[in-house]
Amino acid sequence: MRKRVLAGNWKMYKTAAETSAFLEAFAPLVANASHAEIVICPPYVNLPAAVEAARGTAIEIGGQDLFWLREGAYTGEVSAPMLAAVGCRWVIVGHSERRQYFHETDETVLKKTRAALEAGLTPIVCVGERLEEREAGATESVLRIQCAGGIAGLTPEQFARIVIAYEPVWAIGTGKTATPEMAAHAHGVLRAEMASCFGAAAADSCRILYGGSVKPDNVKGLMEQEEIDGALVGGASLDPQSFAAIVTY
Ligand code: 13P
Repeated sequence: MRKRVLAGNWKMYKTAAETSAFLEAFAPLVANASHAEIVICPPYVNLPAAVEAARGTAIEIGGQDLFWLREGAYTGEVSAPMLAAVGCRWVIVGHSERRQYFHETDETVLKKTRAALEAGLTPIVCVGERLEEREAGATESVLRIQCAGGIAGLTPEQFARIVIAYEPVWAIGTGKTATPEMAAHAHGVLRAEMASCFGAAAADSCRILYGGSVKPDNVKGLMEQEEIDGALVGGASLDPQSFAAIVTY
């Protein structure tokens, strides 16, 4: 049985004060939600405030990115051990916005995933096709290439500790959700790919989240799909009522 994960990716939104206020309002609304792991990923500078405000609750905090080395002269970067030291348990790796705007590649995704695991963090490794790739009928091959470059290089022990997020780029922030059937199909492709790399049992245990315009009114249909093990939510995770409605769908 794969325990669901409902994660909020706050992207570049909220100050530390807004982070604390969100958690104060949100925590009581999800206090009885034991069916899922609940994760919030604020910007780096607000991680201490988030960890502090989530103390004593089941809500866990994650980073949105990391650098793959432990320390060094890399201005602006933050390492996995630093995230762990501040109280993070999770980290998003290879989000499409990182790939699009910050030159993230499958190769850097693999390095970052390994670094996260080494520091004891659970990486949420993101994959997904762009609109022109879907329209060209290339969705499956894009997912296979991203898996081959970004995930297949893990050891079986490392693979057992990651979570995958399928985020079709055309569905992010656009209000266009993949239908539950489209998402489930892509998840099936990813799971089959993982089975060919790591075996059927390991692939069957891996949680695959869907991300892309998940809202309170469409989350239930997505979660009803056997293949979908949770959601990575952007815009709708910024409001406590809205994200609580998603978590308790
Ligand atoms: P939206 O939910 O705003 O479409 O963002 C999805 C996303 O990118 C989560 O990582």
